[in-house]
Amino acid sequence: MSENVVVAQGLTKVYGEQRAVDGIDFNVTRGETFGLLGPNGAGKSTTMRMIACRTPLTSGLLSVEGHDVTRSQRRVRSLIGVVPQENNLDPDLNVLENLHVYARYFRLPKPLAATRSLELLRFTGLEHRARARVDELSGGMKRRLMIARALLHQPGILVLDEPTTGLDPQVRQEIWQRLEELRRDGGVTILLSTHYMEEAEKLCERLIVMDQGRILAQGSPRELVESSVSRYALEVRDCEGKDLQQEGLDGVTSVSRGGAHLYFAADPSLLAPLMKYYEGYRLLLRPSNLEDVFLQLVTSEEALDEAHGDD
Ligand SMILES: Nc1ncnc2c1ncn2[C@@H]1O[C@H](COP(=O)(O)OP(=O)(O)OP(=O)(O)O)[C@@H](O)[C@H]1O
Ligand SMILES: [Mg+2]
Repeated sequence: MSENVVVAQGLTKVYGEQRAVDGIDFNVTRGETFGLLGPNGAGKSTTMRMIACRTPLTSGLLSVEGHDVTRSQRRVRSLIGVVPQENNLDPDLNVLENLHVYARYFRLPKPLAATRSLELLRFTGLEHRARARVDELSGGMKRRLMIARALLHQPGILVLDEPTTGLDPQVRQEIWQRLEELRRDGGVTILLSTHYMEEAEKLCERLIVMDQGRILAQGSPRELVESSVSRYALEVRDCEGKDLQQEGLDGVTSVSRGGAHLYFAADPSLLAPLMKYYEGYRLLLRPSNLEDVFLQLVTSEEALDEAHGDD
């Protein structure tokens, strides 16, 4: 039986006039990796900061392990390991000292803090940098140190706001590997936001796509792909000036995006007539993916706003 670790109902955060999070409902099940996707300003970080008790809710209900985040902040904070979008390491301290100081917030006894710190530096591949100053670390190393720090008090829940943004593909893969291990071996429940569709597809069992503080869609990556776009995509690059074909193609949907045309269909044979139309262009026939879903959802929302004259 699945058990809810995080439950949000009508969760809302208002900054002045801005409804950063606008009455969203979702739940996160024990042991799953749950993704938050959405364009810049969608409300992902705000949602995560409310879960981690870094900012109060304006209204709605939010509980973590059955504890109301408004009433049981201290308790909730002790259950969650947090990696915020911006690194906030202490630049005056070295790597190991950063961990030791943070361990004090959780009142870990010194010897325990010392052993755990070393273990976590090994886990994140930073043991050879234990004495390095934080500002001597590369971006990827800082991110790994942030993750190590979030794990010090052995939380059962991790809230990771864009854990791998700006990292090279190899470091990103290493972080994915570590997150998989935490989930598989430690049963850790993970919430993460990302702009990398590959990351969401690989790691997340379920995800929500947000825009303008609302949830546009939710489900597993596969469900989202299958329910939002058809299985196959024909992608045509560099076709400014060429008309998008919208009429007379049964079972095909089309969209124009950044100088490319995209056609979706359940069967590749339905896309065959288009091959002729685009002779000489760069064509790619491929399975549909989460990026297609994302762009489709977010683009259509913006188009809707324009039609309604919103800003
Ligand atoms: N402290 C704040 N004060 C005022 N407005 C804020 C504050 N934090 C966020 N906002 C606004 O709330 C909205 C949602 O911001 P949020 O940081 O949650 O988006 P996001 O989905 O994390 O975006 P990104 O992908 O760029 O990180 C934005 O319009 C932002 O300007
Ligand atoms: Mg953010």
